[in-house]
Amino acid sequence: MENLKVIDLFCGAGGASTGLIRAGYDVVGAVDAYQEALDTYRKNLCEGDLTNEFPGSVTFDKPLRADLSQGYDDSGKGENLPEITFEDIRENFELEEGEVDVICGCPPCQNFSSLRDTEPWPDGKPKDGLLRAFVDFIREEVPDVVLFENVSNILNAGEEVPSTYVDWFIRQMKNITRPSDSPQEGGYGYTFKVVNAADYGVPQRRRRTIGIFIYGAEDEEVTIPAPTHARDPEEDSDREPWVEVQDRIFREDLKTDLDLGQKQTGIDGYPDDPAHRSRRHHDSTIEMIEAIREHGGSWKDLRGTNDKDLIKECHQDLSSGARSAYGIMAKDEPAPTLTTRCANVSSGRFTHPTENRAITFREAALLMGFPRDYKLPSVNEHAERVVGNAVPPLLIKKAAEHARSDLQQVKKKEITEAA
Ligand SMILES: C[S@@+](CC[C@H](N)C(=O)[O-])C[C@H]1O[C@@H](n2cnc3c(N)ncnc32)[C@H](O)[C@@H]1O
Repeated sequence: MENLKVIDLFCGAGGASTGLIRAGYDVVGAVDAYQEALDTYRKNLCEGDLTNEFPGSVTFDKPLRADLSQGYDDSGKGENLPEITFEDIRENFELEEGEVDVICGCPPCQNFSSLRDTEPWPDGKPKDGLLRAFVDFIREEVPDVVLFENVSNILNAGEEVPSTYVDWFIRQMKNITRPSDSPQEGGYGYTFKVVNAADYGVPQRRRRTIGIFIYGAEDEEVTIPAPTHARDPEEDSDREPWVEVQDRIFREDLKTDLDLGQKQTGIDGYPDDPAHRSRRHHDSTIEMIEAIREHGGSWKDLRGTNDKDLIKECHQDLSSGARSAYGIMAKDEPAPTLTTRCANVSSGRFTHPTENRAITFREAALLMGFPRDYKLPSVNEHAERVVGNAVPPLLIKKAAEHARSDLQQVKKKEITEAA
């Protein structure tokens, strides 16, 4: 079978695309609105030699910067970016109609981020315009496969919210039919599941919703890949233990005792790595990290100790989401979910396991599963945002391999039935 051709919508800095080329797909187009993420994508996946290591490829010189909201999303991306259709995408990447086998997309659904409140939709309609836009792109091309990734809350935030969002999406996908097919032949078979990236070998607990859709398939023919890892696998299980933080970031080619705020340069035998830099910390922050390390691992462990005065007032309220602020990352577990503030000690359990500093941008990228030499933006905010936003490449690789094998079965069945 030839490599499947995939378009990556909301491609960011290329987490999903990296997984797709590792799975042996050819990425024939990628679109996002965020300039720094697109620059990162281009440097690594269009210009770098990284793709030579993998069975798939990226076939274009640079990803397309455009607004993918199709006018639905009032917030839009501003900046006078063009709103585009799938025809525009084909034109930009010189593709024929019907040439794309797969659309992969992670339309951000900010309404469902676990860091924000959720609420039911008032009139049964998704208020998230980017999902509507995503469905319109699919309707225009009707690829064989659609891969979808999103926050876990779209499936499990509560009774009303998930049924509205996911039901609407599935209903639309069931009704999409190619002009050459009858409604019975058309529509997408699907599966949706919240998975933990750690169960697929990613050194990070990251719960995400994965959706796989295959055109013309029955729902039962579309499946989610079986987990390959577990916290404590049974002896007779074929699952491996979760990959730990130390497996990924305690390595010879990564210095741990950095001068705070300094980048690692000129280590004998290793190339300089500007992404291996940590944010600068105030002395008072370092004092607090030291105390937290001494008393346990979380600011809560300072309560009742002689260091209790170091607790920041804003973190006293346990319900404020600040539970894990300044926490020390355990080295013998997967990392916690990395966010767009994942190199910031005040934003989560993002303190290095053994050093009194935040993890570096390189360490964050490794814990997301990016290749060792993936170039990152030089501005701190952009570096942690593109990493925290990413889909773990290994997770999408496994989903993409699995979807291809399900698609082959569906196609085989169609040929047998037609004979
Ligand atoms: C979850 S991130 C995608 C991560 C990416 N797939 C990866 O694996 O690295 C969502 C992306 O959607 C982009 N985005 C948000 N609204 C957009 C819009 N209206 N048009 C285009 N891109 C948009 C953001 O810039 C962000 O990069």
